[in-house]
Amino acid sequence: MSRRAPASREPGDDLIVPRSVAVIMDGNGRWAKSAGFERIRGHERGVDAVRTTVTECARLGVDTLTLYAFSEENWARPAREVKLLFGLLERFLVAELPTLMDNDVRLLHAGRTARLPDKVKRLLDDTIAKTAGNGGMRLCLAISYGGRQEIADAVRRIADEVAAGTLSPDAVDEAAIRSRLYQPELPDPDLLIRTAGELRISNFLLWQVSYAEIHVSDVCWPDFGQAQLHDAFRDYGRRVRKFGKVL
Ligand code: FPP
Repeated sequence: MSRRAPASREPGDDLIVPRSVAVIMDGNGRWAKSAGFERIRGHERGVDAVRTTVTECARLGVDTLTLYAFSEENWARPAREVKLLFGLLERFLVAELPTLMDNDVRLLHAGRTARLPDKVKRLLDDTIAKTAGNGGMRLCLAISYGGRQEIADAVRRIADEVAAGTLSPDAVDEAAIRSRLYQPELPDPDLLIRTAGELRISNFLLWQVSYAEIHVSDVCWPDFGQAQLHDAFRDYGRRVRKFGKVL
């Protein structure tokens, strides 16, 4: 199937749709606390916000959406919360397959797989395989993901290849590192969205966000809906992107 055209404008609106969007979904716990619930309710409501953002980005013609669902550092959370989060991921992968198919969305994963529960690994593999023929938006779930770990893993592969004599040290350049990242084919994010008002990158896509525009939304992730996504795209549309050059 043919890929959608990059960066489009929503008819009758001033939305500029970025080609590649990445989201740090923050504030589930704060949302739950302020509503008088336990933390997991915030993550549950966060899944609804994931569905809204995925379908709206697909509808608007985003090429690649990367969601930070579970960081390498999140393994240090209480075991119960980790278990519940992976339970939500499992349910998402089963329940949302029809939505992914209806919206022509192809699923991908970025991150280390070694520590993932077997069931999550199996469901991820299944959903990646079942959606592999979809030619619309690519949805990359960053799970057990860390930006430093991703770069370290790429460098280790390079060191192995140099030691084996299959790669010359002279050939180690930016392209050599990029091609060994978890999802080398995906375009760098044009827009990085973070919710809950925090001004941090938190080890997300460290290599890829070099020239991303950053939009911080004050709302917690469970409250991030279409209106907030459109605000982010309007904000993006106002940015002047120079990539270090003079215009
Ligand atoms: C950050 O909120 C959120 C996470 C660590 C997990 C994100 C997970 C989801 C949105 C649900 C599952 C995901 C998918 C893709 C189905 P926090 O807990 O750090 O919030 P806080 O800073 O307010 O405590």
